[in-house]
Amino acid sequence: MTHNFSDRISGLKPSAIREILKYGSTPGMIAFSAGNPAPESFPVADMERISKEIFETMSTEALQYGITEGYTPLREKVRARLVSKFAAATDGDDVIIVSGGQQGIELSCKVLCNEGDTVLCEDPSFIGALNAFRSYNVNLVGVKTDEKGLIPEAFEEAVKREKNVRFLYTIPTFQNPTGITLPFERRKEIYRIAVRYGVMILEDNPYGELRFKGEDVPTFKSLDKDGAVIYCGSFSKVLSAGIRLGFVSSPKDVSQKLVVAKQVSDVHTNQFFQILANKFLEECDFDAHVASIRKLYGRKAALMREGLTASTVSVKDKVTFTDPDGGLFMWATLPSGFDVPEFAKKLLEKKVAIVPGVAFAADPKKPVAAFRLNYSTPSDDQIIKGTALLGEALCEELK
Ligand SMILES: Cc1ncc(COP(=O)(O)O)c(C=O)c1O
Repeated sequence: MTHNFSDRISGLKPSAIREILKYGSTPGMIAFSAGNPAPESFPVADMERISKEIFETMSTEALQYGITEGYTPLREKVRARLVSKFAAATDGDDVIIVSGGQQGIELSCKVLCNEGDTVLCEDPSFIGALNAFRSYNVNLVGVKTDEKGLIPEAFEEAVKREKNVRFLYTIPTFQNPTGITLPFERRKEIYRIAVRYGVMILEDNPYGELRFKGEDVPTFKSLDKDGAVIYCGSFSKVLSAGIRLGFVSSPKDVSQKLVVAKQVSDVHTNQFFQILANKFLEECDFDAHVASIRKLYGRKAALMREGLTASTVSVKDKVTFTDPDGGLFMWATLPSGFDVPEFAKKLLEKKVAIVPGVAFAADPKKPVAAFRLNYSTPSDDQIIKGTALLGEALCEELK
């Protein structure tokens, strides 16, 4: 039988980049290509103890259907943390629990956009979000960024130029893939432009808790006096990625639509893990846990930077690496015309995997002379060995 697929899914093709990502898990490979949290960051013993407790004392609640908005005690705790740490929930906002930040992003597009409407994003940006937007057949347009992140003037130009701009998708803090944090001045300017033109901001902040140096920068949501910001967060990088817990703080009317959209998608987020996360927040020292992850990633990021600096001395004018203050990623920029996908393939022979920058481009047909590196997944030894091999390969190509 011939299978005919919808336009929205036919447009999403597995790319050559996926081939490279696949190699990340082959034995002996040093995978700088991943985006996973460090396995040692999972609080396994506490989660095991709490799981047992749940089965012993509240198995029915954990195994029964729950409400779409999320498990009420967890919603309340998430809201309290969003208010105290990020000023990211006002009286006009509701907080709901979703199945990972990814679902919050996808549902936001579902409730805000018709086919052909425009979604703006940083160029480069998180591939999972870009593909979610593509699956709704929107006009996805990348906005120019520089070493500080999204450029406000470029954002305004795009808003004026494109038709039916519904929202800007932004990862302002420790961006994926660049690791860049958008300065507060730019956030204020972008917020003003968005409100002036009636464009919403979808602020994605899954790494906000993971600052290992520098000062916190206020969120877009903290500026939101106009009901213009939908804020997405996640437990993936601070508790566990596999339990699929995220949250969205948004104006009440938006939240109601998100709930309806979620209902037809998966009814509610996994009840057992919502209860588990709630108990973890109640019984364990979450701040101390997050602090230990920050320390771990700060050390790994420094190790990666040291390794890269030492191994690329002879080509230091031709390659630059971002210096993130938190999060999971570093971004390498090369002279324009450098064939990164080809370089990445050659690097696989040295057993090092990176992700070519084109994987994160709003327009995947445009070449990108850059690549992403992840430091949370590889071990210290792998970071030391891998940065030496990567530097050696870059020196060969660039000299
Ligand atoms: C920028 C960004 N947003 C959202 C997500 C999705 O996270 P979650 O596991 O909560 O769905 C990721 C995951 O890597 C990400 O990098």
